Amino acid sequence: MKPYDLNTPILEFASRNQNSVWTVRQAVEGVQIFGGIGSGKTSGSGRKLALKYLIAGFGGLVLTAKPDEKRLWKEYCSLTGRSADLLVIEPGGRHSFDFLNYISSRDGAANPITDNIVDVLKTVIRASQTISSGKSDDAFWETALDMLIFNVIDLCQLAYGKVSFQLMYEIVLSIPKTGDDNQEETILPDQSLSEQIFNGYRVALEKAKNNVLEQINQWKSSFSAEEVDMIWERPDFDSLLTTAVPDVRLYGFVEQFFNDTFIPLSEKTRSIIDFSFTGFLFRMLREPIHSMFCSRESTVTPEDSLTGKIILLNLPVKTYQKIGRDCQIMFKYIWQQAMEKRNIVENELPVFLWADEAQSFLHEHDADFQATARSSRIATVYISQNLPNYHACMGGEKSEYKVKSFLGTLATKIFHANADIDTNRYASELIGDTYFEDQSESVTISKDFSQTRGKSFKLERAVRPEAFVSLRTGGPANNFGTEAYLHRQGDTIANGQNYAKMNFSQLYNP
Ligand SMILES: Nc1ncnc2c1ncn2[C@@H]1O[C@H](COP(=O)(O)OP(=O)(O)O)[C@@H](O)[C@H]1O
Ligand SMILES: [Mg+2]
Repeated sequence: MKPYDLNTPILEFASRNQNSVWTVRQAVEGVQIFGGIGSGKTSGSGRKLALKYLIAGFGGLVLTAKPDEKRLWKEYCSLTGRSADLLVIEPGGRHSFDFLNYISSRDGAANPITDNIVDVLKTVIRASQTISSGKSDDAFWETALDMLIFNVIDLCQLAYGKVSFQLMYEIVLSIPKTGDDNQEETILPDQSLSEQIFNGYRVALEKAKNNVLEQINQWKSSFSAEEVDMIWERPDFDSLLTTAVPDVRLYGFVEQFFNDTFIPLSEKTRSIIDFSFTGFLFRMLREPIHSMFCSRESTVTPEDSLTGKIILLNLPVKTYQKIGRDCQIMFKYIWQQAMEKRNIVENELPVFLWADEAQSFLHEHDADFQATARSSRIATVYISQNLPNYHACMGGEKSEYKVKSFLGTLATKIFHANADIDTNRYASELIGDTYFEDQSESVTISKDFSQTRGKSFKLERAVRPEAFVSLRTGGPANNFGTEAYLHRQGDTIANGQNYAKMNFSQLYNP
C-alpha cells in the first residue's frame, strides 16, 4: 500500500494573519461534536467530516442510533464514489459476522479463548447495565458476574469443545438454586432433547466429567499395568495427573465454583447476576440477531476496514433498543481491538469510528482505546448533545472525572448551538481566557483640572457560555449555514488562537 499522507487537509481556516489547515493528522486525534437537538451536528459539521473522510479514502465503522443513518451514509458514499466500499450488516441483509467464532479463532494460542470471550461479553453486559440503571462501581456484583461468565464458558469448552450462546443460555438457566434437592440426579443417555435442554447445566457437567475421565484413561493407557500401579501410588500423583491432563484442574475449579460459590448465593443476589447474563444471551438468541451474529459464517470482519471498507451496523438503537446497542457495542469493542493490533508499518490507511448519539455506545475500555487511537490511526467522531448525556451513560461514582478525562482524549471539539448550561460552560472554559482591551476612561479631577484616558487590559473568557445559545442552526432562514466553535487542544488554528468560529453548510457537496 502506498504511503498515506497525514498532511492531507480536511478543514481549512482562513483568517487575517494565518491560513491554517486541520489535517488527517488531527483527525486521528479524535473529534467530539456537541450541540442541542437540531443544531446542525449531523447536517453541518458531521456531514462535512464524513464526506471529507470518505474522499480521503478512510475505511471505517459506523454505529447507528437512528433508522435514517443508513440512507445518509449511502448518500455520502455515493457522493464520494465509495458506494462499493459500504458493507451494511442488517436484519435480512446478506452480511453476517459470527462473534464467538471470530473471537475464538482470533489470536490462536496467544490468549486463552475463555479470557477473550469473557472480556468481550462482560464489557457489553456491563455497558448495558451502566446505561440502563446507572449501576456500576459495584465491585461485588461485577466480580460475581465475571466469575459466572468465566465458569460457564469453561464448562462449555470442557463439555462440548466449543462455546455458543445457545449452550451458555441452557447452562445458566438450569443451574440449581440452594435448596433444590435433586442436585445429584445423574443424566441418563436416553433422555429426550428437551429434558437435556431443561437440564443444560447438569448435562454439561456430566459431559465435562466424562471427557476428563476419558482423557485420564487415555493417559493411563500409555502405561503398562505395573507402571500404572506404581504411578497411582506415587505421592506426587496429583501433580503428575494435572500436568498430563490439565482439564482435571479446570474441571475441579468449575465444579467448585458452582457448588461452593454460586449455588449457595442468596436468591436476591443470584437473580441479579442470572438476569443480567441470561437477559443478554436471550436477546442474542432471538431473530433477527441470531442469523446476523450467531448462526452464519462471517462475511464481514473488522479487518475489512483496513482495506478501505466502511462497515455500517444498521441496528439503530431507536428501533432495536437494548439488543441494537449490545450488538453494536460488542462489534465496536472487537473492532477497536482489531484496529489496535494492526500493523501500521504495513498499512497506514486511517480508519474512522463514527457514532452519532455516541453516548449510547460507550463501554469501560473506551478511554484507554482513545488514548492510543492516534497511533492506530483511528479517526473517532463522537456526536452527542451535551455533557449530561455522557454523565448518565458513564454512571458510577466518578462520572465527572471519567467524562472529562474521556473527552480529553478527543483533541478537537466542535460546539454547535446548545441550551445546556454545563456544556456551554465547559466549552467556554476549554477555549479559555483572552485579554480584552478595557476602554474605561479615568478622569482625574485635580487642581489644574486634567483628564487622563487610561488604557488597560482585562482577562476575560474568549467566548462566553451564552455565546453558544444563539449560534445559527441551519435551514432556509440561515441560508443553510450552521455555526459552531471548533477548539483544538494544543495548536493554534486561526489568529493565533486555539479556536475558530466556523460555518458548516448543510449543502456541502464535494
Ligand atoms: N439537508 C438539510 N437541509 C436543510 N435543513 C436541514 C437539513 N438537514 C437537517 N436540516 C434542518 O437543520 C437543522 C439541523 O439539523 P441536524 O443537523 O439534523 O441537527 P442535529 O443533528 O444537531 O440534531 C434542523 O432544523 C433540521 O430540520
Ligand atoms: Mg443529528
